[in-house]
Parts: sequence; C-alpha cells; structure tokens
Amino acid sequence: MITQLAEHIYWVGVVDWGIRSFHGHELSTHRGTSYNAYLIVDEKIALVDTVWEPFQDDLLANIREIVDPARIDYIIASHAEPDHSGSLPAVVREAPNATVILSKRAIDSIQGHHHQPWNFQTVKTGDSISLGRHDLVFVEAPMLHWPDSMFTYVTGANILMPNDAFGQHYASAYRFNDQVDQQELYQEALKYYANILTPFSDRVAKKIDELLAMNLPVNMIAPSHGIIWRDNPLQIVQKYQEWAAQVPERRALVLYDTMWEGTRKMAEAIGEGLAEQGVPVRLLHMAVTDRNDALAEVFRSQAIIIGSPTLNRGVLPTIAPILEDLKGLQFKNKIGAAFGSYGWSGESVKAIEEHMNAAGITLVAEGLRAKWQPTEENLERCRLLGRDIAGAMAAAR
Ligand code: FEO
Repeated sequence: MITQLAEHIYWVGVVDWGIRSFHGHELSTHRGTSYNAYLIVDEKIALVDTVWEPFQDDLLANIREIVDPARIDYIIASHAEPDHSGSLPAVVREAPNATVILSKRAIDSIQGHHHQPWNFQTVKTGDSISLGRHDLVFVEAPMLHWPDSMFTYVTGANILMPNDAFGQHYASAYRFNDQVDQQELYQEALKYYANILTPFSDRVAKKIDELLAMNLPVNMIAPSHGIIWRDNPLQIVQKYQEWAAQVPERRALVLYDTMWEGTRKMAEAIGEGLAEQGVPVRLLHMAVTDRNDALAEVFRSQAIIIGSPTLNRGVLPTIAPILEDLKGLQFKNKIGAAFGSYGWSGESVKAIEEHMNAAGITLVAEGLRAKWQPTEENLERCRLLGRDIAGAMAAAR
C-alpha cells in the first residue's frame, strides 16, 4: 500500500514484517524492517532507491498504482547495499530509458553488485536535477555508512531522503513517527546507530554540521528503513548529534559466559559492588543474549566488565563474537576490566584484556581470576572491583 508524503511524492516501499536477521545473520531485527523507496511524480518522474530483490514485485506494483514504471526518468541509487539496490535490475527492465543517478563512489559498488551497462549519471554534493516543480539536490555522505552513500533533498516539499542515516529496523503498519510507540522507535533507532554507525561517528557529526550549514528547510526526514520523521523531524538529527559525541550514560554492563557457574558468581559479585555505589548495572549472559542488543547496551554504558572462564587457553566461543564487535565498532569513552574462573592454565582474562585494549576500552583495574569455584575471598575481591570501577567512573566524568 502506498503512502502520500506530500503533493506528488509517495512512499512506494515495502514492510518486511518477518525478517529477524539482517546482513545475512549478522544483525538481529526483532521488530522486522521496511525498505523505503520514494516516487516523485513531476514533469519528470524520479524513484529514490529500490527495495530488496525478494520484494521487487511489491515495489513495482506500488509504482504502478501511481504511474507506469516505463515513465520513470531517474532512478536515484543512494547506496548499493542489496536491501536498496536489489530491485534495480527489475526496475530498469521496466524503465529502460531511465538514468541511474548515483555518487561517483557508487559506480564501483553498483556495478560490482549488478554488472550491468545501465545509463549512469554521477553527481556530487550540491549537484541538482530539475524535475519541474521540484529539484533533487544531492549530498554525498561517504561512510554513512558505505563509501557510496548519498542523501537526496527534494526542494518544494523540503524532504530529506538520507538513505540509511536516521533509519530504524522497525516494521510498522504506520509510516510516520507521530503514529508509533516512541519507546520502541527510539530503542530501534539507537540499536541501529550503535550497531551500524558507531565507527563513523566523527563523520556523522561533520555531515550534520554540513547539512545544518546549508540552512535547508526540512519538513520531513525520510530514511530508507523504518518510519519517516515528520513530527519535529530534526529531533532525530539532534539525537544523532548526541549519539555521535558518544558520551556514555552513568551505567555499567557486565558481559559474561560461564560453564559451571564460577564466572557467573564473579559477575554477580562485581555487579553487587557497582550497585552498592549506586551505579545502574546490568548483567548479560552472552550465551543467551542477542549480540546486537548487547552492543546497544554497550553503546549506552560507561563501564564494560567482561568475564569468561578459560577454555582451550582462551575464552568461551560465546564471548568471542562480542569481543570482535568491540574491536570493530571502536566505542569511545569506555572504561572496563576483565575477569574469569579457570582450572589450570587460566589465559582467558589476559585474552579479554588484549581484546579490550584493541577495542580502545581503558582498563582501570587489574583483571580478576578465580581458580575452580571462587572462594568468599575471591568474591569479596570481585565486589571490591565493582566498587573500584564505580570510583573510576565517577573520576572519568
Ligand atoms: Fe539499508 Fe546499508 O543498507
């Protein structure tokens, strides 16, 4: 079902209620997602983005409700990732005279994905195309979140279409931010930022400054996933400025896995030490916790304490993925420590500390190890570690 955003401008995308993992199996999407595509029907007709290939027929059916796809003059390919460019072949087949508008960097990625000799026209920041009553103004946004990423601004209607930026993996029967549950919306927007955009936070901040300096009136921000921001649209821009600064909340997070409960007991004692000092603390057992949800918690938290027993001279395989994510995402302004039980060799704490160092997390206390099951003395040391981390958190603020 199509939705009209403004006169002559339509959402022709698709809601994917059923998807529960994205990027293959890399990113959890508990609330589904949508692939947003927009049709501007003027003297010339432009389609901004397509949808993931399994939904190409739905996209074309939506377009046909408004115009014959053969009449499309321009297809804006903001970004080559297949959730947006996957239906390009089908759309170009239906609109063989259309010109594919893309950033210079997208030539590599669009051709790399599709290997087709389409009519391409590259644009750079500030370039525009007149459709008649509306112009499309383009703003390159490299690494938000791929090199090819580009925003499109529709004059007249004053709608910014920033592709992935400001999006959320959030399926809804509704299209606009004032129609949905605000807590769900912001939970998904933050998870999206934390898991996808964190490493590019400096670029996010600069791009927002650049956009604000352009002084464009903004009636709506229409991203390529989730709901469209029409009620106070700049609220999500302000939230992105806040997130890009990566100033964590006064919260602590204990991530752990355990084999025979020794490391769990240590985790709980560390949590007790933090709680004694009034620090909001959450323990996540990583064997039964969604990795991407945990990363959203990491994003918010100032202190990250990670524990694993030693297995085969290293950490448990259930802890390894989040250590790898921490290294890749490079969260800023985090402090932390490591802990774990062991039986004979006991390398896990050192291995965790190496990963935390590589992730840019400042270790503020020596890692704690407990041989076999922790004694009461071990657990008291864990409580002390929690209290010390609470002190380090206060000192760092
Ligand atoms: Fe929604 Fe980067 O694709």
